[in-house]
Amino acid sequence: MTVLTPRPDLWTLDPDVLHLNHGSYGAVPRRTQELMARLRTEMDANPMVWFRTVADRLTTSRLALASYLDTDPDGFALVANASAGVTVALHTLPIPAGSRIVLTDHAYGAVRYAAERIAKDRGAEVVNVGIPLEADDETVVALIARHLGKASVLIVDQITSGTAKVFPIDALVAAAHEHGVPIVVDGAHAPALIDAPAAAGADFWTGNFHKWPAAPRATAGLVVAERWRSAAKPLIVSWSEYDERMPERFDSQGTYDYVPWIAAPESLRVLADLNWPTRRPQLTGLVEEGARILAKALGTGIAEVVHPPATMRLVELPSSVDLSGGEALKMRVSRELKAEITLTGFEGRGFVRLSAHAYNSPADYEKLSEGLPRVLA
Ligand SMILES: Cc1ncc(COP(=O)(O)O)c(C=O)c1O
Repeated sequence: MTVLTPRPDLWTLDPDVLHLNHGSYGAVPRRTQELMARLRTEMDANPMVWFRTVADRLTTSRLALASYLDTDPDGFALVANASAGVTVALHTLPIPAGSRIVLTDHAYGAVRYAAERIAKDRGAEVVNVGIPLEADDETVVALIARHLGKASVLIVDQITSGTAKVFPIDALVAAAHEHGVPIVVDGAHAPALIDAPAAAGADFWTGNFHKWPAAPRATAGLVVAERWRSAAKPLIVSWSEYDERMPERFDSQGTYDYVPWIAAPESLRVLADLNWPTRRPQLTGLVEEGARILAKALGTGIAEVVHPPATMRLVELPSSVDLSGGEALKMRVSRELKAEITLTGFEGRGFVRLSAHAYNSPADYEKLSEGLPRVLA
């Protein structure tokens, strides 16, 4: 097997910092940043001309991103982020009073808030299904299926955020549809980690390009099943309000910085040049080895998640670590160790969620493992 070399040179990340949390805000490669700078120079040389060209440029970008996801371009719209994607879905689906919005205890906090807001507005109820961290696919489906009786919508993560677990989306889509319940798939982490992530036939799927595909921030996609396409509307009401064309009506967000959406395909080209299909399994090896080293240094273990995603692993924190001040602790690690990691908690256990991207090397995990026990002590 050819071992691919780490390529931090393709990014502009501070070399004095250990960047071990790609999953939160991504990191944009130099080439995409340069393209964005050129586009912004063009925009500010003549804003009038620039805005006349935006529609065509967005069409080109949308088609490239839909093709990357291997999804029908007629149902693929651009949105700012996965939070926006889920919010659009919840505003499109019928959620009558007395019905249930079903999600799990792995759901992303902001997505839960979106469900709570709409439930309050409509007189519906949010049902939180508990799924043990180590649950296998059959258990996940069985636990959720029990709550689909009075559900008006099921929201599930494709890859959970705090627990880095891949959910069995095909089976969950089938279970939801057997009960006649529309399903919204939160695929925030899925692009570049799961092949053709939007192909499972969900009613709505949303995913971030600004995470693993390293696209500029505020670039996400929303895939809408045919039956909801005429009803789905962008969150910002603008000139496209009476535009019947889907997905074009999502392109119009008022006066807005469209540069990230236009530049996003450049990051996909960077990934292609990095030989992503070969590199991704090597990053799996890298993060697994890194997690082993860190768990050994902390005297703990790696969480036994049945299907962890390709590039993230949970390393258990010693039980002496109090996660109630999680943000302060992350700040201390950032300040004292110059390391960016994320800390998560689930079922009363604390974890470091480690990640690997093309700029990481084994030394990153070794340095973290040398220093973290001291900072946590
Ligand atoms: C599972 C999941 N859903 C939704 C989001 C929200 O993404 P964004 O902040 O881009 O809206 C995240 C962000 O990390 C996430 O992990």
